[in-house]
Amino acid sequence: LSYFFLFLLINISVVEVLGVDKFSRDDFPPDFVFGSGTSAYQVEGAANEDGRGPSIWDSFSHSGKMHGGSGDIACDQYHKYKDDVQLMVDTGLEAYRFSISWSRLIPNGRGPVNPKGLQYYNNLINELSSNGIQPHVTLHHSDFPQALEDKYGGWLSREMVKDFTAYADVCFRNFGDRVLHWTTMNEANVFVIAGYESGVTPPEHCSPPFGINCTRGNSSTEPYLATHHILLAHASAARLYKEKYQDQQHGFIGINLLAFWILPLTNKTEDVIAAQRAMDFLIGWYAYPLVYGDYPDVMKKNLGSRLPAFTNFESNLVKGSFDFLGLNYYAMLYIKDDSSKLNMEVRDFNADMAIELTVAYYLSYCAAIPNDISANKFSTAPWGLQELLEYFKQAYGNPPIYIHENGHQTPHNSSLEDEPRVNYLHGHIGALLDALRNGSNTRGYFQWSFLDLFELLDGFESSFGLYYVDVDDPDLKRQPKLSAQWFSHFLKTKGAGS
Ligand code: NOJ
Repeated sequence: LSYFFLFLLINISVVEVLGVDKFSRDDFPPDFVFGSGTSAYQVEGAANEDGRGPSIWDSFSHSGKMHGGSGDIACDQYHKYKDDVQLMVDTGLEAYRFSISWSRLIPNGRGPVNPKGLQYYNNLINELSSNGIQPHVTLHHSDFPQALEDKYGGWLSREMVKDFTAYADVCFRNFGDRVLHWTTMNEANVFVIAGYESGVTPPEHCSPPFGINCTRGNSSTEPYLATHHILLAHASAARLYKEKYQDQQHGFIGINLLAFWILPLTNKTEDVIAAQRAMDFLIGWYAYPLVYGDYPDVMKKNLGSRLPAFTNFESNLVKGSFDFLGLNYYAMLYIKDDSSKLNMEVRDFNADMAIELTVAYYLSYCAAIPNDISANKFSTAPWGLQELLEYFKQAYGNPPIYIHENGHQTPHNSSLEDEPRVNYLHGHIGALLDALRNGSNTRGYFQWSFLDLFELLDGFESSFGLYYVDVDDPDLKRQPKLSAQWFSHFLKTKGAGS
């Protein structure tokens, strides 16, 4: 009996600190999955161990252009995966979203597989599975092998389609008996905008006047060419999975995009049109071909021959090539029309586009976000998530969706009492429940990120983690934040909603 009272007391105190929830895990369908995520370069470390080859992020972070150091050690999950999985168990995670480092598995991008790489991912997947945590695996989270950039220019070459498909084949064949959820690309749209238009992330392609510090590239065509190849690579890997593996392995395959909920700044018709255009340029760019087999009309009209055209074969390959769409949702954006710039040579369509604001988000000056919190890049606007899911229902036929990332950024070393993060997560999970009740086909939610990790532009200077990682401690000690306790309480408490 005394244990029962102790349990009651602990629970009452968590509720007192964190506030009474209006909903609980039980309000979501039992097969809806809750998890948390990371990516290989951001947590693994062991960059030069056991035969791993360099990725484009290794070259970039070692060039001294990042203010956050390098991911050589990161959170050292490569050596600490068992402890981390135990932490996931303690937290009550139902799933863990992580990515495979292509160059750890196939150091040259194509050719021989690294047995130690295979061993590591087998170990991690086994550790998760034996603890009842579903592995949700991403194949490309920005860090493709440097060898392929050197060999033929990475995603600017169609060669990538073949090499990516061969890499995916290795993953399906070796891990597919235990991995049921595959995502080919993470934030494909941001990857090309930041890597081939503004050049702020590797492979740092851009051209004036759009990009800064550009030494090579062409912002007016390369993002569209890279996207075309990425869509084909995704679709080719998905076809392989469906034809060769899905019948035996019974898994699912999808692709991930960054999505803002974009609104017009005013009720003026031109702003309303600009907001719609922005949704098409940011999301429709990928979602429209995936669902309908072609780029959105507004892109074709504005870009002309700069946008590659789908052949019939390509269109059929890409159309319907997914079992789910993964969305990373952090914030909403207000858009103001600026079509005076529509005829500028390079930036023509960009001026009022989310495409530009997405870059702004990477450059940390996203003033267009309402309720902008000066210390953060993201606003707390949970209803934007609900609206976004409603939009996917209307515009794309309500496809199965996973919210693959949602989280709140704070400076690293800020308090473990991260109440703003708790409020952010609480608000967004509540908005998600409203969306589900309204018929959204969302299947899961992954908080970003499980640990304070090596942020892709800021290194360890900012963080999203449920667990603080002490980077000054040789052991990289993990410590739970209030948000970890809250999420754990949410996941474990049955029927606490009202
Ligand atoms: C997007 C990326 O997928 C992830 O790698 C990054 O850490 C977060 N968003 C936060 O910026």
